[in-house]
Amino acid sequence: MSKKLWGGRFTQPTDKFVEEFTASIDFDQRMYRYDIQGSLAHAHMLGRQGIIAEEEAEQICVGLNGILADMDAGKIEFSVALEDIHMNIEARLIERIGSVGGKLHTGRSRNDQVAVDIRLYLRDEMKAILAYLDKLQEALLQQADDNLDTIMPGYTHLQTAQPVLFAHHMLAYYEMFCRDSGRMDDCLRRMNVLPLGAGALAGTTFPIDRESVAQELGFDGVTRNSLDSVSDRDFALEFCAASATLMMHLSRLSEELVLWSSADFNFIELSDAFCTGSSIMPQKKNPDVPELVRGKTGRVYGNLISLLTLMKSLPLAYNKDMQEDKEPLFDSIDTVKGSLKIFADMIALMNVKVDNMRVAAARGFSTATDVADYCVTKGIPFRDAHEIVGKTVRYCIEHNKDIPELSLAEFKQFSPVIEEDIYNFVTLEASVNARKATGGTARIAVAAEIELARKNRQENK
Ligand code: ARG
Repeated sequence: MSKKLWGGRFTQPTDKFVEEFTASIDFDQRMYRYDIQGSLAHAHMLGRQGIIAEEEAEQICVGLNGILADMDAGKIEFSVALEDIHMNIEARLIERIGSVGGKLHTGRSRNDQVAVDIRLYLRDEMKAILAYLDKLQEALLQQADDNLDTIMPGYTHLQTAQPVLFAHHMLAYYEMFCRDSGRMDDCLRRMNVLPLGAGALAGTTFPIDRESVAQELGFDGVTRNSLDSVSDRDFALEFCAASATLMMHLSRLSEELVLWSSADFNFIELSDAFCTGSSIMPQKKNPDVPELVRGKTGRVYGNLISLLTLMKSLPLAYNKDMQEDKEPLFDSIDTVKGSLKIFADMIALMNVKVDNMRVAAARGFSTATDVADYCVTKGIPFRDAHEIVGKTVRYCIEHNKDIPELSLAEFKQFSPVIEEDIYNFVTLEASVNARKATGGTARIAVAAEIELARKNRQENK
């Protein structure tokens, strides 16, 4: 079973530790289904082209399907001596169907084989990631829909700036995730070409038909240069880069959830299902999930840097270094997939404390800009209006009052243009709804964005 498939030119066995050190089976076994899928397509083509007999191709495929069933059932033990998933499966095949199994590797190398395996595997994982991303976006849209009348403080520098709708805040994340999903789609499209047929590096002497293999495996076409085909890992890099940006967005949302669920903000409550308690402080309910996702962002950034560094000095074509591409890639896949899955449910179940947000939105002179804008409509240049309201705010601080609480006489100390109608401009609703231009926080503008998002989603289904 552990006889080396490349043993011909060797006279001594591999050092045991070297065997372990150079093996990738511990982590590349997760690609077994795709390795077999690629081999089936390759075998079909070898038969069709008459490179091997049709019956031989048939025997190989029966053998491969048997191995697949055994692996799905967890019946197969992998061997470190057989180094990687490719040779584990090939050795099994030969063991199972005899020497005809040795014909599968005709016109192929592990170098183009691994390149096709990763693409097939990543393609499926990216589809799963896109589905979770979609679910999270749906949850954000639902929260936005439910909170079209929820006003919260909008911040800059984490200082109260202007009131905004909570729906508007949710849609900001919706936009980020739209871009993330666009980046994933882009990566998928560029990645979806078949590298098989490149052989070890230079192509193959056999009359293969790459286009038909591409078609069978659902690729949009074939790669155009054999050297590039076996040495390119751009698709993994692009995925890791898109993942890093996606995690950055999840981490920002995490940070807000952590702040909002603190007693000091008290804007939301996360479902118990996503929190844990403290072993010493009985009152605590900790937002572990957003904290962990925020923390895991680091490893996804790290994976991108690992891959970039791995590739940066490699001469063409394949180099063994490239075996190190898998763990960072797999880790980013697992982390992004898990984070999105958990976030989609957590956001859907998040309880929004509407009244607390409103109280906070009214604090911090959040409608000061509205007073300045009011003065501008009465003909005062904005810079002067800014000065007038600055003094008004200082007066409020000194007298422990809020802007809407000032009497008209008090307002008039700062500018004679201020009239009774000022009170119509300094409510939270008036402030929010005055910002009606596309992309603004007015109820009507936000409702239009929700509708547009729903329409786009319908069209993309
Ligand atoms: N396990 C190898 C990898 O992951 C497969 C390709 C090995 N090719 C070779 N010529 N050693 O990169």
